[in-house]
Amino acid sequence: MTNPQKPPKPEVSMSVIDAIYHRRSVRDYTTQKIEQAVIRTLLDAAVHAPTAVHEEPWAFAIIQDKDTLNRLSDNVKELLAHGTDPIHPPSGNHTQDRFTAPEFNAFYNAGTLIVICGKPLGPFVISDCWLAAENLMLAACAKGLGTCVIGLSVTALNTPEWKKELGIPAEMTAFAPIIVGIPSGETPPVPRKQPEILTWK
Ligand SMILES: Cc1cc2nc3c(=O)[nH]c(=O)nc-3n(C[C@H](O)[C@H](O)[C@H](O)COP(=O)(O)O)c2cc1C
Repeated sequence: MTNPQKPPKPEVSMSVIDAIYHRRSVRDYTTQKIEQAVIRTLLDAAVHAPTAVHEEPWAFAIIQDKDTLNRLSDNVKELLAHGTDPIHPPSGNHTQDRFTAPEFNAFYNAGTLIVICGKPLGPFVISDCWLAAENLMLAACAKGLGTCVIGLSVTALNTPEWKKELGIPAEMTAFAPIIVGIPSGETPPVPRKQPEILTWK
């Protein structure tokens, strides 16, 4: 029997291999809003990732409200500037300066942020959430959308204040914040090192 609630599968516009090689971290978006139905399709792709003991230990916070995204970006920059972000301590380098510049928006003005949060269910929850994250990003790529993980925002997202505002229960952890939008241009590929093979017996 078919489930009437189930969102449609993503249109197959690209093979998995093509999506792997075409996905880029996109940092420039159009202002066009992403429809709820599209977001549901991406979430459905995310939850088809494998999970340890099939626990499916995740839940999602979706933020499309511009004011909320801007306030969150400001808070991310504040934590960086004051050196109170334990994940990104002050380095005094150009990257740090760029991230705290007044014109910088931590979410690159993308209209949608999807935060993958993990339930405290065991040692593989973080891995499960990141597998879901990659599924989501590849599905987005196959639909012509751009994505970028915004690790810079993890500390702010896990503060009690933001968890409360975003409805993330205290016992859950925000692991993978991913912006989604329509790319406003081409993003060149970032070169990769060759795989380092330690053993091949
Ligand atoms: C865990 C994680 C955190 C990241 N955090 C940020 C971030 O805060 N801001 C950003 O612009 N890119 C971020 N990125 C994107 C990486 O910079 C990007 O994946 C890398 O440069 C390779 O480029 P590509 O994704 O286009 O292949 C993050 C990626 C990962 C996996």
